[in-house]
Amino acid sequence: MLPTIEWDRDKVIMIDQRKLPEEEVYVECKDYSQVAEAIEKMVIRGAPAVGVAAAFGVALGMMKIGEEEKRDKEFYLIYRRLKKTRPTARNLFWALERMKKIFEENRNLDIFRLKERLIQEALAIEREDIEKNKKIGFLGKQLIKDGDSILTHCNAGALATAGYGTALGVIRAAVEEGKRIQVYADETRPFLQGARLTCWELDKENIPVILITDNMAGYLMQKGMISLVITGADRIVRNGDTANKIGTYTVAVLAKENGLPFYVAAPLATIDFNLGQGNQILIEERDPQEVKEVGGRCITLPHVKALNPAFDVTPAKYISAIITEKGIARPPFEKSLTKLM
Ligand code: MRU
Repeated sequence: MLPTIEWDRDKVIMIDQRKLPEEEVYVECKDYSQVAEAIEKMVIRGAPAVGVAAAFGVALGMMKIGEEEKRDKEFYLIYRRLKKTRPTARNLFWALERMKKIFEENRNLDIFRLKERLIQEALAIEREDIEKNKKIGFLGKQLIKDGDSILTHCNAGALATAGYGTALGVIRAAVEEGKRIQVYADETRPFLQGARLTCWELDKENIPVILITDNMAGYLMQKGMISLVITGADRIVRNGDTANKIGTYTVAVLAKENGLPFYVAAPLATIDFNLGQGNQILIEERDPQEVKEVGGRCITLPHVKALNPAFDVTPAKYISAIITEKGIARPPFEKSLTKLM
């Protein structure tokens, strides 16, 4: 399986996703602020992978404190720094809350045992993420038929998780079962997660993939070349509205217009029951320079303004089903998701 992130006692190692597919370079984070920067700069990205990185960041930060330091002060400093890295994906906050709970329940242990407890929790978050993805794959593969052509947006694969992937996990599971699948990958401007990451990881496993630009999806659907769409999610709220990579909404509307199923695959950790509807989700705005450049080259006039919202919200009415590790939720989602939570 592809190595996305690894705990290595006094450091966290991650594949540098900014450099793929040209170079397979690994980055070593030696303290929690390097983990926080790696999340901000997209060395590691994808909702579940960011959650795992944040949990490792907490464990790493606490490992480095001395006996004499105030553990409460240090813990909350680390926790707050990691919390500020990216605002949209629920999994970051979910993982940090889980680490905070362990800290608060064990804060009176001797420092060595406390550190060990935090490391074990972070490793459990990593391990469980892979297990959940395999369950999502197992449940989701029933929605896929032999011979299907599947459109996916962004990268919701092994690279976006601790391993195996959510949307690509469903595709992997269907392929493992012997189904013949053709994947179409949207390039996913501006960061090109589809072109660079989804194509890279599918190609490594010989899963047939064809790259298209983001504006080709409607054409392919009209021509009958797509059987269904499957994406991951960054935050799903109570009514089923789903934030995912910018461009997902457009694909979902096109799928409905063309009578195609649109599936979302995500662990329950992505679901935020504190929010009732999608317009309450905070959407990350990234540096407009990312839009103005491709491969480091400026593609417009240097003074031209650009916008760079990193996610959009797909209203629940466009989503046929949400595949989680506990079951497949169908509309109305408030009811079906409640049963799974
Ligand atoms: O900005 P990114 O690359 O972190 O955005 C990632 C996505 O939008 C993914 O589709 C989502 O996190 C699901 S990953 C299993």
